[in-house]
Amino acid sequence: MIEGKRSAAQAALGEVRDGQILGIGTGSTVAIFIEMLAERVKKDGLRVMCVPTSYQSAHLAIERGLKLTTLEEYSTLDLAVDGADEVDRNLNLIKGGGAALTREKIVDSAAKRFVVIADESKLVERLGSRSPVPIEVIPMSWKRVANMVKVLGGEARLRDGGDRKDGPLVTDNGNFILDVKFGEIDDPRALEFELKRIPGVVEVGLFVNMANAAYIGSERGVKLIERKS
Ligand code: 5RP
Repeated sequence: MIEGKRSAAQAALGEVRDGQILGIGTGSTVAIFIEMLAERVKKDGLRVMCVPTSYQSAHLAIERGLKLTTLEEYSTLDLAVDGADEVDRNLNLIKGGGAALTREKIVDSAAKRFVVIADESKLVERLGSRSPVPIEVIPMSWKRVANMVKVLGGEARLRDGGDRKDGPLVTDNGNFILDVKFGEIDDPRALEFELKRIPGVVEVGLFVNMANAAYIGSERGVKLIERKS
């Protein structure tokens, strides 16, 4: 699995050019990408600046000597590189396993090109077959949102901060996460739309029609899935 993550990260690194403004996602695969990017910056003197999608990624990037910037300074990014919990063959995604889905959606959608890096275990025929859909919610609304997603066929669980006794996980935006099991999803676009209409929902971890390409890594190498249009 780690080899797959490494080879996917390495392949995405091949897309980075001098002078670019980069969006950097969150998660263990992106952490590998950040390490590789920092090494390349040191070795080749690349001048890149990064917009992070979480405190986790920001801290790692700073620690490794990468320069950070913001969407206030650069509202369009050249390239965003991010992980995923599920990727289907149309490049639709489930994201939010690392609770950073809202900032990820903002940053990934601001990029001219958005590339996913994942090991092959993330590739699915249909979204929802393995992972729940994470939904970021305003804390006071969580119970009501959980009840309302039931009507849409979802079974919601409030994500805890690692251990149940720690209480709910709090996102970088001060919100809660509901992990909602839907089973296999027929129409991710329609479901995203329905979920976003529920008051209290900040963002939904369904990324439909956003990614331009995905590097799927395994011990056997990397497969590139590229959007056709
Ligand atoms: C964080 C995410 C991550 O990109 C996703 O959970 C994949 O993480 P990993 O690379 O650790 O498997 O969406 O919100």
